[in-house]
Amino acid sequence: MMDVGRHPNITLMAYSEVEDIAGYVGNFQIKVRRKARYVDETECTACGDCAVVCPVVKPDEFQAGLSTRRAIYIPFPQAVPSSYIINADECLGNNPIACGKCQAACDKQCIDFDMQDEVVDLEVGAIIVATGMDVYDPTPLDEYGYTSYPNVITSLEFERLISAGGPTEGHLVRPSDRQRPRRIGFVQCVGSRTALTDSNPDGRRGNPYCSNICCMNTIKDSLLLKDHYPDTDILVFYMDIRAFGKGFEDLYMRSRAEGVHYLRGLPGEVEEDPETQSLRVYAENTSSGQLEMHEVDLLVLSVGAVPSRETDQVRQLLTLSRTGDGFLMEAHPKLKPVDSPTKGVYIAGCAESPKDVKDSVTQASAAAARAEVLLSASKTKVEAITAVVDEELCKKCGRCAEVCPFSAILWRKGEVAHVVSAACAGCGTCAAECPFGAIVMRHFTDQQIYAMIDAILEENPLEKVPVFACNWCSYAGADTAGTARLQYPPNARIIRTMCSGRVNPAFVWYAFQKGAPVVLVSGCHYVDCHYISANRNTVRRVDALWEGLEKAGVRPERLQLDWCSAAEGQKWARVMREVEGLRAKVTAEEVERTRELLQDKKVPTTSKVYRLKEPRSVTMRCYRCGHEWGAMFDPASDEERMCPQCRSNSVRVLL
Ligand code: FES
Repeated sequence: MMDVGRHPNITLMAYSEVEDIAGYVGNFQIKVRRKARYVDETECTACGDCAVVCPVVKPDEFQAGLSTRRAIYIPFPQAVPSSYIINADECLGNNPIACGKCQAACDKQCIDFDMQDEVVDLEVGAIIVATGMDVYDPTPLDEYGYTSYPNVITSLEFERLISAGGPTEGHLVRPSDRQRPRRIGFVQCVGSRTALTDSNPDGRRGNPYCSNICCMNTIKDSLLLKDHYPDTDILVFYMDIRAFGKGFEDLYMRSRAEGVHYLRGLPGEVEEDPETQSLRVYAENTSSGQLEMHEVDLLVLSVGAVPSRETDQVRQLLTLSRTGDGFLMEAHPKLKPVDSPTKGVYIAGCAESPKDVKDSVTQASAAAARAEVLLSASKTKVEAITAVVDEELCKKCGRCAEVCPFSAILWRKGEVAHVVSAACAGCGTCAAECPFGAIVMRHFTDQQIYAMIDAILEENPLEKVPVFACNWCSYAGADTAGTARLQYPPNARIIRTMCSGRVNPAFVWYAFQKGAPVVLVSGCHYVDCHYISANRNTVRRVDALWEGLEKAGVRPERLQLDWCSAAEGQKWARVMREVEGLRAKVTAEEVERTRELLQDKKVPTTSKVYRLKEPRSVTMRCYRCGHEWGAMFDPASDEERMCPQCRSNSVRVLL
């Protein structure tokens, strides 16, 4: 941190907040609010005379609330710049005027209560997001007694207790009586690897993913304790120890050899002895099948990692996407692990997923190198697959700009839309949305796609199933099925698009008019769309098509929707078999009748479902297996619809 502060090529803007980011790769404009510190950082020598006289006492966040600080304080010992700041809200409290004691105590006259926030404009070519993570709050897990017993603490609090810079200067004491604990228990996976079930629908009792760092952190702590206090009894309650990584297994074996006990099973209940304030921990030892009780003086909950509170704000500022676990999504998990889907924006550290120091350093170095490659080139190459607006046809409605997940379309009321090619990622959802055909998607033009539909349905249309598959997941899933030599009916004819968001409802309509018995639209799983949220538009359009087909008198189940990832070759083969089952039931008469029914009918673009404002109870119907069930439907929710019976995504909301 000190080195960063001193580096001639790094400007550190501490106590600042990014307010707005505009522009695109190579040309980002950023607004940063530098918050008023009320202390002149260039003059402050951090003598601390001000803090001594400050009457406002608050819990010290850096020490996990185990000690206190004043309203004028240094956020943490290594903070750069090493100068005091005043938290104005705490300083004033309910008083309109500051007491001014700190100002009187400051010999250097560094304190200025009239200091104002300053907004700084920056122009940058690349951005690296390294916003870190937060830790899971174990308050909802009553069984561990975190809120009831003082000697149940989190691993973060434990870190502060054993740190030389911590509130006890590294002397390990338990909170209740400040005595050294002789028996210490660690509970692993607190808030991690917990299924989202009916009793944990919102993840408050824990998240489904492994937090990656907790096992090694506990092993490290156990060795540290054995080193400093060899007579301490240490017991680790665990599900399984995940010690992958260079040297980690050795560390684990060393910890066992040093006498740390590992018990396979998590506690079901913790009780405090009111006399001694030691804790009775009840757990099933799953290795022996016995219910055991262990007494400890201090219980440390190894809490998992959660996305930082600001992740959503960052996501919105940079039009990034989140994975199902809430962390930021990389452009490709294997091939572009530090790139984000927005060009010129890179991700490092726990903003992307929980990881340890070594992995964070590796990823940060990679992100810096990727940014360096971009900045050192005099020009940047962008993919030729971009959208272009035909200014003659554009009716200035702005719908394209509304659906662009990358904010790559510039549009103002009454003006023709304009695509910033450098920012366009090429998903094509704008072209699918434009009702006037004014957007040309290079390499995936309407004419090309219509020509493919024509070619597919030219001969024996009754035996073919046109399948729109997105490049990144479904098409790759079909490839996986092929390379794995999985058998499935050969009736599918794939039309590749970069994203399922490119599928214009008119393509599907046209395929039915040309005699397709069944049409399948497929793409990446909901949270995995490579173009942030483009496949949300796919669902909206398929919904409209289902409604339109039904109104026209055509069986809507002839249009199928399914999400399939690149790894799901098995799923692809299964979907193909199921779709073939549906195709086999469509007769030549039905196809002929469909042609007549759809003739001259307008292509539907919106459905009733998307006009809903409030949540309401609905019937869900699966168009694959026919299963129907009641559910609460929230139009604002952003969840993948899936049939609980056949796991298909062809699920329609019926109002
Ligand atoms: Fe696959 Fe968007 S990239 S659905």
